[in-house]
Amino acid sequence: MKPLRIALLYNSKGHVPLAMDAPEDALAEYDSEETIQGLQDALRSGGYDVIPLEGDEGFLDAIRQVQPDICFNICEGLRGDSRESHVPAILEMLGIPYTASRVLTQAISLDKVATKRLWRDSGLPIAPFQVFTYSEQPLDSRLSFPLFVKPSREGTGMGINDRSVVRDEASLREQVRWIINSYHQPALVEAFLPGREFTVGLVGNALRPGEAPPSDFYDARGYHVFPVLEIDVRHLGGVDQVYTSHIKSVDPLAPKYLCPAPIDDALAEQLQTLAVQAFEAIGCLDVARVDFKLDAQGQPVLLEINTLPGLNPTYSDIVMAARAEGVPYNALVLEVLRQAMRRYRLDGAA
Ligand SMILES: Nc1ncnc2c1ncn2[C@@H]1O[C@H](COP(=O)(O)OP(=O)(O)O)[C@@H](O)[C@H]1O
Ligand SMILES: [Mg+2]
Repeated sequence: MKPLRIALLYNSKGHVPLAMDAPEDALAEYDSEETIQGLQDALRSGGYDVIPLEGDEGFLDAIRQVQPDICFNICEGLRGDSRESHVPAILEMLGIPYTASRVLTQAISLDKVATKRLWRDSGLPIAPFQVFTYSEQPLDSRLSFPLFVKPSREGTGMGINDRSVVRDEASLREQVRWIINSYHQPALVEAFLPGREFTVGLVGNALRPGEAPPSDFYDARGYHVFPVLEIDVRHLGGVDQVYTSHIKSVDPLAPKYLCPAPIDDALAEQLQTLAVQAFEAIGCLDVARVDFKLDAQGQPVLLEINTLPGLNPTYSDIVMAARAEGVPYNALVLEVLRQAMRRYRLDGAA
């Protein structure tokens, strides 16, 4: 039998067009050569035929030429509000299978405000917030300082720096104005969460009633939830211990990544359960990573969900969490692929 043909879809750092006024961290979320090579090697280790492809403006023509059986998608998208949904939308139009979440979920998860509204609707814990479309908007009386200011639709710490925590009106207005002007989008202002920071990665999909898990890697719900990873930036100085864009992009090995996190079993279980609920609340598929902080009372609060979590073979959070549990990079990547193949009935299962 011929091996399945897999198109590996990405947006590499060197290939993304930048606007004249792009902020300095504009390329932060795009893919490095190391990630693209790592994924190719991992997919090939499964015996598949792998064709790497940029998810760029020529993508519609290119993918029709390649005619893959399935795509492994990590495209962040080139531009626009819902850019992570552009490549999935083209694939849907052409009827080509692909890994990870679909169009609507990719659009929602990039938008932290839309995500928080859906989580709130599902009764999940989020920080109180307000969206600022212009900087002089009156501050909601239910919010009190300190507050945290971030772009509503970015990732990889973009727009997050040592001025993100604001303690008075003047610095709030200034940071909101900077976000709106630099990132051309509303600013999301949230209650500042002073507690420890965690992230939880998972692979899988909800099983139908009576359906057996695909293997003993998965629990009875259909998920494999990796151990909780704590990100500790306290030793890096900075008053508010924020995981900034600078740390994420320039110095990703600087924080302490503790996995399994040194927390009691009850908190670990609570974080893992919340991660699955957060995943299901916005209709995720195959893989995601959910970020949390603890509030002043030590209760977990959902920050955001990454429906295309970084898959750098060395330092991406979900990769470290898998490794901590003895799951090598190649196995993690192949599980994501197999979840998608199973959904599209490409795995030979009835
Ligand atoms: N409300 C908040 N209170 C305190 N710190 C926050 C808050 N929101 C975000 N942060 C900090 O900023 C970092 C990035 O925020 P996050 O919402 O996860 O966006 P990104 O998509 O950039 O990862 C977090 O990892 C955390 O350190
Ligand atoms: Mg995050």
